[in-house]
Amino acid sequence: MSGPEIRRVGVVGLGAMGAGIAQLAIEAGYETVGREVSGELGAKARDRIAHFLQRKVDKEQMSADEREAALASLFLTTELADFADCDLVIEAIVEDLQAKLELFAALEGIVRPDAILATNTSALSVTEISAAVSTPERVIGMHFFNPAPLMPLVEIVRAELSTDETVEAAFAVGARLGKRPIRCHDTPGFVVNRVLIPLLNDCIRILDEARVTPQDLDTAMTAGAGWPMGPCALVDLVGIDVHVHASEALYEKLREPRMAPPPRIVAMKHAGLLGRKSGRGFFTYD
Ligand SMILES: NC(=O)c1ccc[n+]([C@@H]2O[C@H](COP(=O)([O-])OP(=O)(O)OC[C@H]3O[C@@H](n4cnc5c(N)ncnc54)[C@H](O)[C@@H]3O)[C@@H](O)[C@H]2O)c1
Repeated sequence: MSGPEIRRVGVVGLGAMGAGIAQLAIEAGYETVGREVSGELGAKARDRIAHFLQRKVDKEQMSADEREAALASLFLTTELADFADCDLVIEAIVEDLQAKLELFAALEGIVRPDAILATNTSALSVTEISAAVSTPERVIGMHFFNPAPLMPLVEIVRAELSTDETVEAAFAVGARLGKRPIRCHDTPGFVVNRVLIPLLNDCIRILDEARVTPQDLDTAMTAGAGWPMGPCALVDLVGIDVHVHASEALYEKLREPRMAPPPRIVAMKHAGLLGRKSGRGFFTYD
């Protein structure tokens, strides 16, 4: 299968990730269709995107005309049928396998047979999602990092039946979005989370084992290992609940003890100490 030239991009779900991906797409000059479950949520996403682009204008990273042109290329909808002319659709809805399977099955009936279907899932199997359609060769993972407009990496995740053309087309889109794409296969955690989640869990366990404070552990890893940010500050930024969820998902698949969330962080989650977003995690925030 040789893929189409990608000119029109669809983004399903305009939450934290989808809005960022849609922003990248319009900045890169793609006609972009964004779908939310309600017009109100779509409008909220557009406002967020408009706000971030205005900040870029203020910082002289783009002109006011470029901002207007980018925003004009974003078409919001609540109808899946509006993806009919998209060459690539990137799914960024809730992290729920059933919801994604239903969406992919519905999309297959709408988009052209050669359109690429991508998922931004963090922890589900791209191959399992691809089984929702009769043409799994055009399904791929495009795993962006949060916040998508700022984090340079996108993992291009090859599912069991993805073709080379699909992989390369998604890779090229990642590059045009200004990202640094890498290619990998569909294994639990892909690359970054497979490395980072057990490492962060080790860090959390070491808090108790070495009786080191979060502040000192962060100093140890920034000053001694050259990390740009300490592990406790990082988990606070990601969200304690998000980290626990990702750890549980990896543990469920790999059954390696290091993947399991340490009891200390599970207790923090239950106590509502979710990190930056709740004002308190390992550290307190204003
Ligand atoms: N947040 C992260 O750090 C992060 C990083 C990488 C990947 N991801 C993955 O990206 C996906 C989205 O995560 P998020 O953090 O943006 O979630 P989110 O809850 O912020 O956004 C999801 C959005 O999808 C919308 N939605 C749900 N079903 C829909 C449908 N059928 N059609 C259109 N819109 C629909 C919801 O209204 C919501 O606005 C998940 O698969 C997640 O695992 C998240």
